[in-house]
Amino acid sequence: MGFPLQRPRRLRRTETWRRLVRETTLSADDFVYPLFIVPGRGVRRPVSSMPGIAQLSVDEAVREARTAFDAGVRAVILFAAPAHKDPAGSAALDPDGLVPQTIKAIKAECPDLVVWTDVCLCSATDHGHCGHVTPAGEIDNDSSVETLAKVALTYARAGADAVAPSDMMDGRVLAMRRLLDSEGLSHVPIVSYAAKYASSFYGPFREAAESAPAFGDRRSYQMDPPNVREALREVLLDVEEGADLVMVKPAGPYLDVIRCVRDAVNVPVVAYQVSGEFSLIKAAAERGWIDERAAAFETLTGIKRAGADLIITYYAVDMARWLRS
Ligand code: PBG
Repeated sequence: MGFPLQRPRRLRRTETWRRLVRETTLSADDFVYPLFIVPGRGVRRPVSSMPGIAQLSVDEAVREARTAFDAGVRAVILFAAPAHKDPAGSAALDPDGLVPQTIKAIKAECPDLVVWTDVCLCSATDHGHCGHVTPAGEIDNDSSVETLAKVALTYARAGADAVAPSDMMDGRVLAMRRLLDSEGLSHVPIVSYAAKYASSFYGPFREAAESAPAFGDRRSYQMDPPNVREALREVLLDVEEGADLVMVKPAGPYLDVIRCVRDAVNVPVVAYQVSGEFSLIKAAAERGWIDERAAAFETLTGIKRAGADLIITYYAVDMARWLRS
């Protein structure tokens, strides 16, 4: 029953046929666009390791959000790099801080744009870790969780459409859900960075968010790259704790994890095409070694084919425009 009766190429001969039998298609609705907020006014400071991406003051972030929305992007995720850093990460708790200001300003300009907020301490702590550090140099889980829940509350009160904990402490989803519910914010969803790996692909982001750890690394809280059963454990725990969406991060090197998670849960699965994945394509394209647009389409299609319902990507605005043209 094989060749010559079977000729799979028949369905590949024209673009029209290829479109008819295409199994995975991308849409602007699939993407979430990250924004990096810094103090000041009129600031648009390029991130050298991420061509086309800039650190933005609140006013510039609003303009960028408007541009993204007009291009067809429906959601952004906010990261802040506050000027003040201390051991507790107290800048992240400031109700008038960069993230709350930006939420309010974007919502005033663009009410239908969905605003997610990354919840973490790493860009607000002087040591650059995602939680509190004990005198012995350990990351203290339970006191960090308490603070992180308060950070989520601060952002939800400011009008965030979702809070997205990226710290990888145990139990933070439950703590956030309880605190939000007790404060009348039961309608605010939690997007959990459930399976976040200790990855070498976060380097450029740490320049953009000014969040590199001052000592050690994140391997005592972020996941070990070889593990997939552990990812399922993390995801199932977070769903049990009340996560409304779960995330796998990075995306490209973890497509098998995305597929396993997609098959294991009934909540939407988010994948994060992280800074290093973006910068690799950019760097090769700048040297003329790769077709940037084709590579962006191919990597994002692969992530969606693996099972992602939504993709956080620095290509969100470009993709929305490319999809229109
Ligand atoms: C903060 C955080 C990181 C990223 C998202 N949230 C960096 C890290 O864990 O060091 C990485 C995103 C990217 O590389 O694009 N905890």
